[in-house]
Amino acid sequence: MQSRFNIGVVGDQPICCILRHLHSGIVAHCTDFGDALRVGGVVAYSKDMARIIVTAPQLMSVVNGELPGHEVVGGDHFMDRQELSDQIVDADALLTSLSDPLDAEMIGRGKNLKVIGQCAAGFNNIDLDAAKQAGITVTSTPGVLHEATADLAFTLLLEVTRRTSEAERWVRAGKAWRYDHTFMLGAGLQGATLGIVGLGQIGEAMARRAAAFGMNVIYNARHDKDVTAIDAVNPNTQPTRRVELSELFATSDVVSLHCPLTDKTHHLVDADALAAMKKTAYLVNTARGACVDEAALVSALASGEIAGAGLDVFEDEPTINADLLTMENVVVLPHIGSAALPTREAMSRLAARNIAKVLDGKPAETPVG
Ligand code: DGY
Repeated sequence: MQSRFNIGVVGDQPICCILRHLHSGIVAHCTDFGDALRVGGVVAYSKDMARIIVTAPQLMSVVNGELPGHEVVGGDHFMDRQELSDQIVDADALLTSLSDPLDAEMIGRGKNLKVIGQCAAGFNNIDLDAAKQAGITVTSTPGVLHEATADLAFTLLLEVTRRTSEAERWVRAGKAWRYDHTFMLGAGLQGATLGIVGLGQIGEAMARRAAAFGMNVIYNARHDKDVTAIDAVNPNTQPTRRVELSELFATSDVVSLHCPLTDKTHHLVDADALAAMKKTAYLVNTARGACVDEAALVSALASGEIAGAGLDVFEDEPTINADLLTMENVVVLPHIGSAALPTREAMSRLAARNIAKVLDGKPAETPVG
């Protein structure tokens, strides 16, 4: 790695402050002065620095705390394709977000790139083959966001089955109401079946929440999973079972997606899957928008083929099919699955720590693949 700065400074101002303000748009965080040279009151910074590009808004105090002595650029705005493509050229590392277009062409421009630290559990925006061929380590942030994301998924489940968003809109619109035995009736959860597609960390955390609410859990995954923790939650629920997708769609009262977006799961919920669901069933999606054929979902909701949907992710984010926005039985959230402050801090810390380790010649904590 080459030194990026060699600056003579006379005076008392801390060098980190000076570096921070060198260029607008550049945030340099230097707390390690082990290699700084001091000659007669002149401090010349000579530590080897890596150039780390942060492609999207980040919790920079957390990120900087993990990357002392490096030049950290960005973190205060979303870089568009052009900016990313300019910045990647001499980047040693990227701290990325889930919408960055890290395709083969983009990755090919990163001739110095050693590590892509994705600050998300999902990494479907990254061409892993291209990264592997280029010898670039890709990391993600599992293990720190599953509880918060399951909280949000279960929030959607409750909102859509108990019609809370619809009811709140009613009240805020000033429409007449009084306690009425027949008003705003939703679905009950006790004894209902939750079908989970993908029983990874988030799916398992969702299953535990469902069990606590008295739901029986079935799941689809490539292999049998350890369901001990789910079954231990509630003595009154049935043992958790792995089933084929066809059984899951046909028998679940709520289907919740917790699978990664891959070629196999693209449009996993299509017109046929929706037609196979019960008319009284709901769909919850906190995984990736393209796991669902959004146009087919709109038709299924409009024709009453399913009862409702709770969605945190969309096929063409941030654009949402306009019809979905008009449907009372649909809850829409702006991809905030993991958006709890302690969770986002833990994600930022882990993403930055992965980068620091790889730059330091050590194995990443949570590499992808
Ligand atoms: C992820 O990390 O992949 C989630 O979608 C963020 O909420």
